[in-house]
Amino acid sequence: MNTEQLKSFLTELFDSRGDEMYGKEAVTQRQHALQSAVHASRETDDPELVMAALLHDVGHILGESHLPGNLDENLDDSHEARAYPWVRERFGDRVADPVRLHVAAKRYLCTVDPGYAEKLSPTSHKSFLDQGGPMNQSEREAFEAETHFQEAVQLRRWDDAAKDPSASTPDLQHFLSLVDRLGPRPQA
Ligand SMILES: [Fe+2]
Repeated sequence: MNTEQLKSFLTELFDSRGDEMYGKEAVTQRQHALQSAVHASRETDDPELVMAALLHDVGHILGESHLPGNLDENLDDSHEARAYPWVRERFGDRVADPVRLHVAAKRYLCTVDPGYAEKLSPTSHKSFLDQGGPMNQSEREAFEAETHFQEAVQLRRWDDAAKDPSASTPDLQHFLSLVDRLGPRPQA
């Protein structure tokens, strides 16, 4: 897949699935992705981190995946694990690791920052519990030993702030211009 094909794939993916709601949040998958990328780009001009923000929840809309829409269901759908190999193959570890770790980053922040858990949306708090709740000491140490754990924590905060139904953002094509700078990686 070359750069143009990758941009076309992502355009079609968001055209076909991006208008699905982001679970019980008041934004669509597209709004959530774009708002995450906006928050990232306000704090950094690092294209890998902005791309990670844009794609962090792509696992919800890849293939046949669907985010559980009912809070009574188990909201741990392993979307970060589903997205990881797809993102890594195309953009490398520095984009893919924060994507893989953004769920663990929520558990980490809830563990080390007592005020953080109180600010989570009801859906995010429910999925936090379904995803394992607070980290124990060994989980925390393993997370902090990840090469890109700080990037994952940054991504998590952009993710949490990206649920405003009235926010306006640039469109997807604006952020897909980053694909020209980043990839895709040569296929093995
Ligand atoms: Fe998210």
